Amino acid sequence: MIEPQPRFVDAVQPEPAARFLRACRRLPVDATPVWFMRQAGRYMPEYRAIRERHSLLEIVARPHLAAEVTLQPVQTLGVDAAILFADILLPVVPMGLSLEFAKGEGPVIREAVRSAQAARRLRVVDAETDLGHVLEAICILRRELPADVPLIGFCGAPFTVASYMVEGGPAKDFRNVKGMMLADPAAWHSLMETVASSMENYLLAQIQAGAQAVQVFDSWVGQLSPADYLEFVQPYSRRVLKAAEATGVPVIHFGTDTATLLPHMKEAGGTVIGLDWRMPLDDGWGLLGEDVAVQGNLDPTALFAPLPVLRDRVEGVLRRAGGRPGHIFNVGHGILTHTPVENVRAAVDMVHEWPHE
Ligand code: CP3
Repeated sequence: MIEPQPRFVDAVQPEPAARFLRACRRLPVDATPVWFMRQAGRYMPEYRAIRERHSLLEIVARPHLAAEVTLQPVQTLGVDAAILFADILLPVVPMGLSLEFAKGEGPVIREAVRSAQAARRLRVVDAETDLGHVLEAICILRRELPADVPLIGFCGAPFTVASYMVEGGPAKDFRNVKGMMLADPAAWHSLMETVASSMENYLLAQIQAGAQAVQVFDSWVGQLSPADYLEFVQPYSRRVLKAAEATGVPVIHFGTDTATLLPHMKEAGGTVIGLDWRMPLDDGWGLLGEDVAVQGNLDPTALFAPLPVLRDRVEGVLRRAGGRPGHIFNVGHGILTHTPVENVRAAVDMVHEWPHE
């Protein structure tokens, strides 16, 4: 049973206590908060032990297992936030498609959406009935997480989710998805309407169930020119982001390869904007303006380096943040599979030890 909690009320309290929530609001903190995208996953022996017995889709379908995996990095690493264990592609199934994770290939959607008819056949997700197991995992986690470790819910941004739906899996050149925008804009807009409404419902349901912040992943948005972003993507991202922001919880808007898109992403929405490592953190923050918080931006490969080199890279990011309120430390994109766990734990300590007056 899902027991919704009155998060809408708590979330708008002006002075949250947890470091992570304070930084989202650009309030002073005792230490820089840190968490990592893909902090739960195959680089962790505890995760691999569960994956030996269950597929990824089985884990996310069983709320107690999903909650257990979500808690693993909180216990092992000492991070300042937990991210719900789920996947951005789960909602494509109730939209009417199939989803598999093929070994070595990543996600596979067999019925790639390539026409206006196919786009019109999709249905809008009703999160309570279609993805109730995810909401139940949120309820379990809110009971089990320590009070100073907030839970982050998430969804994919409409463009990134639609890319997988049109390409049928990971893409190299995004030929089909960009082809649809250019050759059949009506089909594209119809697809984006359904995806955006679905993501909006899903994210609001996660907040209602107890997520204390949410992240919208636009992992592949850097494939687009600013003009195409504005015409084909921004209105849909904005709808999802603004709906989540209206609840009062912090909203993290993440993308990669976004140097030319950052101001447009900020316009679309987000309390916090994610930065990858391709741009120095202070340059990215400068482009965005200091009225928004930022998250990032360690190169995930730095986590493989000898500890003194890692320390240098971690401190490089912190120095660029310059102790300004509103920085959440993270990698610029998810933790890679063979990353040594002890280095990730060491990076958490390095961030926490960085002096704040
Ligand atoms: O710890 C966390 O970050 C929470 C869990 C999480 C997963 N996926 C679990 C997962 C989150 C936040 C995601 C988001 C996600 N999923 C994104 C956006 C973030 C990004 O990395 O850009 C994307 C693009 C996806 C789609 C997806 N799911 C891909 C491309 C893959 C294959 C990657 C691979 O390494 O095989 C997945 C599978 C997936 N989702 C794994 C995990 C931990 C791989 C591990 C496994 O198979 O057990």
